[in-house]
Amino acid sequence: MTRPAVLVARAAFPDIVDRLRAHFEVEDNPADRIFTKAELSAKLAGKAGAFITGSERIDAEVLDANPQLRAVCNMAVGYNNIDVDACNARGVLATNTPDVLTETTADFGFALMMATARRIAEGEHFLRRGEWTKWAYDMFAGSDVHGATLGILGMGRIGQAVAKRGALGFGMKVIYHNRSRLAPELEAPIGARYVSKEALLRESDHLVIVVPYSPASHHAIAAAELALMKPTATLTNIARGGVVDDAALAAALRERRIAAAGLDVFEGEPKVHPDLLSVPNVVLTPHIASATVATRRAMASLAVDNLIAALTGAVPPTPVNPQVLPLKR
Ligand code: GLV
Repeated sequence: MTRPAVLVARAAFPDIVDRLRAHFEVEDNPADRIFTKAELSAKLAGKAGAFITGSERIDAEVLDANPQLRAVCNMAVGYNNIDVDACNARGVLATNTPDVLTETTADFGFALMMATARRIAEGEHFLRRGEWTKWAYDMFAGSDVHGATLGILGMGRIGQAVAKRGALGFGMKVIYHNRSRLAPELEAPIGARYVSKEALLRESDHLVIVVPYSPASHHAIAAAELALMKPTATLTNIARGGVVDDAALAAALRERRIAAAGLDVFEGEPKVHPDLLSVPNVVLTPHIASATVATRRAMASLAVDNLIAALTGAVPPTPVNPQVLPLKR
């Protein structure tokens, strides 16, 4: 019996990718070239499944060009790169990597929020430029994190993990807005208060965005929302580019309508809006919130587990659209 063929669309931990070779003919991409859409479609020819990342967009066109494709396994918790409706319509399984990155991503979100509030990147750039010649009473004076009001937009697993750090570690008051309210037993230990989006924007000292990207969350934070925030507030985005209108944010930062921002994700990344590069009061990181060795290995491993299960008739651990199971072989 010929073995199914799979594509590993990006470089990943070779020892983890190697586990696929026991089951499948594997075409990998150790040079880690980013495929254009046409290249991706061509590479998927004859493949039953694919290990992909957020860089690979799986849409109706790609699926129609590859009707033999049965499973696309994302090495990411977010899956806005996959048109899930198109997958459903064609019986294609999509999987993601929830849970394994929750605490690591929350650590990073908290660190980015703290770096933003305490102006750590601005201070470092100043020092590296050789401009530090004396102490000054207001030099890089930022705002406190402990005891402040932490606002969370998107209270899923990662949002709750950020909130826990704030409430239990830093004595922060936690408010949040989400599509649905948390169960009381989840709210109570962190004293989290469900508020309207408007109240969240008005009351937060430090707003952390953790909402998944979808057409509904596109530009959830744009000029009108930024205008509701305190001039002393910070905004941290560890969710997805596109949830925040980067041009509007850059304008608000330049005009000090909010104090500072911390951004790990960007509209059109890896390109960054030039206005964000020219304002000083923003901490910029290259989409690394889940990037610890242990967590990235766990994510790769889960994506591999999903792909193996999907194509060998087992139950994939973390399907996005389980309704397509069992897959037609
Ligand atoms: C990273 O952004 C992820 O969705 O895992």
